[in-house]
Amino acid sequence: MSVAPRLGDGKVTVPGILARKPASSSAPKSKITCLTAYDFPTARLLDQAGVDILLVGDSVGMVVLGYESTLPVTFEEILHHTRAVRRGTQRALLVADMPYGSFHVTIEESVRNAVRLIKEGGAEAVKIEGGERRIELIARLVEAEIPVMGHVGLTPQSIHALGGFHVQGKTADAARQLERDARAVESAGAFAVVLESVPSELAARITDKLRIPTIGIGAGSHCDGQVLVLHDLLGLTQGHKPKFARQYTDLSAEISQVVTGYCEDVRSGNFPSEAESFRSTNELRDYLRAPALVKQRG
Ligand code: KIV
Repeated sequence: MSVAPRLGDGKVTVPGILARKPASSSAPKSKITCLTAYDFPTARLLDQAGVDILLVGDSVGMVVLGYESTLPVTFEEILHHTRAVRRGTQRALLVADMPYGSFHVTIEESVRNAVRLIKEGGAEAVKIEGGERRIELIARLVEAEIPVMGHVGLTPQSIHALGGFHVQGKTADAARQLERDARAVESAGAFAVVLESVPSELAARITDKLRIPTIGIGAGSHCDGQVLVLHDLLGLTQGHKPKFARQYTDLSAEISQVVTGYCEDVRSGNFPSEAESFRSTNELRDYLRAPALVKQRG
């Protein structure tokens, strides 16, 4: 069972995130930082580095589990990773993604699934993809004391319906729909909304109109916060790199170099050294010096 976080000084909370929404664009507040996290050691590092929100995204399916898309990610997998991240998180707000299929069922079952992420996973909020279509569900979750982060624009769980990973809201009709989606999520009670792959000017307009913070990913710099997939930032993803993902380091190259060095050391006998080995006791030395027992014949 996970341990509930103590709401001590500096703990990031849902009201704290809401309070980061600037009253107007002429009175800016510090931007909200959000990164994905999927395991205990990285959660601990990100938390200690001061990231505001840790998101156990269903991107775990692609960057950690090796799936082709986020669609195969199961509820139990998200729950498992959420529990690991919970153990490494003290200050950040912990948000768990509702994976595909876990909320495309009855409202009762969806609420039951979300409750498990809070109760068994230790999440403090859940993220739901979709706009107007999710109004009833978001309202029911909020009624059940489960804070909800919305997610509109490019919603990877709708990949088949959208026909690919394309920038959303590029026509007037699509922009109007996106604005309706963002407003719907807000009026249903979400405390923040992710805007994914949306032209910057449209994201800025939505950000200015909403009372809740917008967290952008490929949505320009005007959003109230930013989120990235950790593995993109660290250079751990291979293959296609989204235009919006800034790679801050190349951990893939570093890991390859380190592992090659280890293999060379093992093969050459350079590892382990004396310092990395355990010394014998006198008793063991005497035993090892004594003649070996002759093998008994059966
Ligand atoms: O699953 C995920 O990582 C996400 C973020 C990219 C917002 O939904």
